[in-house]
Amino acid sequence: MKITYFDTLDSTNKYLKENFSNLNNLDSVVAYHQTSGRGRLGRTWVDQDDLLMSILIKEGLENIYIERLSLLICHTIFRTIKEILRNNDVKIKWPNDILVDGKKICGILLEGVSSEKLDAVIIGFGVNVNSEKFSDDLIIKATSLKLISKIKYDINELSKIIFNNFLEDYDKFLMGDNNYLRTCKDNSYLIGKIVSITENDKTYLAKVVDILENGHILLDINGSVYEKSSGEISLTDNYK
Ligand code: BTN
Repeated sequence: MKITYFDTLDSTNKYLKENFSNLNNLDSVVAYHQTSGRGRLGRTWVDQDDLLMSILIKEGLENIYIERLSLLICHTIFRTIKEILRNNDVKIKWPNDILVDGKKICGILLEGVSSEKLDAVIIGFGVNVNSEKFSDDLIIKATSLKLISKIKYDINELSKIIFNNFLEDYDKFLMGDNNYLRTCKDNSYLIGKIVSITENDKTYLAKVVDILENGHILLDINGSVYEKSSGEISLTDNYK
């Protein structure tokens, strides 16, 4: 397993999707810039001087649920950022965001590659590292390591730290350790909050009750409890 660095790619996720058959399990790529960075829900991901990285999983997929991997990478990035920003409030916002002081510092996008079976899972993430200027609509919602700490970070160094932390966490995950779930629950931005969710074009208010081991969310809608996957609903807003 290795990390390959590129000056520019259209998207690190797309690169791994197209090249997974020639690569090894856990190989990773970093691009210093993406021309078509992909975000969740079909959005684009715009970068400045940030970490844009994807990790390939192509072995052992028979017994793996993508949504568990999603919690696992949240755990890895959470603990890495928490180590760097010891004095800040770092939270995991289900299903895939890492927030610092209520602002997004990392977005995660998992993509599957399937033929008859699931051939590969790509774990892509963008960490706002040295970005300093955000558009007017993002400035209230996004932040970066540099904006918070006033320190410029080395992207290569950070990629290696996250990669090694992930390998460590993934090993434990394969051995059945579910400490990642504890991290996602204990540091959840949403548990206990009222959120607005959209499902099949209908919008509801719901209270977030729990995050489950399978990566689903437990919601209280008008006194009844429902388990939902990130594929079934989208969070449109949250109210304190
Ligand atoms: C989100 O919408 O919050 C998820 C953003 C994921 C962006 C990362 S950047 C590296 C990897 N390659 C992509 O094209 N997207 C992910």
